[in-house]
Amino acid sequence: MNPSAHASGAGADPANESWRNDEGALLTMLEEVERKHGYIPQQVGDEVSRLLELKLERIKRAQAKLETGIRRDVQRHVARWSGEEGNLIMILHAIQNQYGYVPREVAMELSRELGVRLARIYEVITFYHYFKLQPPGKHNVTVCNGTACYLKGAAGLLAELRTQLGVGEGQTTPDREFHVDVVRCIGCCGMSPAVVCDGKTHGRVKPADIAGFLAAARAASPEAKP
Ligand code: FES
Repeated sequence: MNPSAHASGAGADPANESWRNDEGALLTMLEEVERKHGYIPQQVGDEVSRLLELKLERIKRAQAKLETGIRRDVQRHVARWSGEEGNLIMILHAIQNQYGYVPREVAMELSRELGVRLARIYEVITFYHYFKLQPPGKHNVTVCNGTACYLKGAAGLLAELRTQLGVGEGQTTPDREFHVDVVRCIGCCGMSPAVVCDGKTHGRVKPADIAGFLAAARAASPEAKP
């Protein structure tokens, strides 16, 4: 018996077998079958189990590949800095340069490889502002909040960024388009308040300028170009 026949007989769309690739739709289809027949025919159950096992197998293979890649990367960085003083910081720099941040799985692998407590690794990461625990955004907006910029209204710029993007200091938008950072003085106090957007420094910035910076950054994305 073809399980699709059960699915379609139970009210699922026969032309739409999206349930084969979607666990949510799969469960909905099973519920419909059970509601209609009062039980789940064995062949439907077998087919569903087969699909779920296939999917699980694929996930396990992908995970094993990822873990092997992470282990190889960490071992390479550890070997490079082995025996050197302050090597934990140098390794963390190498990891951040590679990934753009320090992913949790990588920190865990590093802890295992170095025999250093994970808590100690996180102490170092959180002590130095440079290290990031979140993936960077495609575009980076850095607001200076040093004394001069603070006095000239940096807080208003951060508030405007929160209004425009919904995120604040150290955060990345859920779509990973923008990351917002705050620094203490970028050496342009004469043009405070200052903002650096994707490496370009802007001075005497007003909250009303922020939307324009964000639009320009979006427009500069490769996929935004015709
Ligand atoms: S305080 Fe902002 S540039 Fe110096």
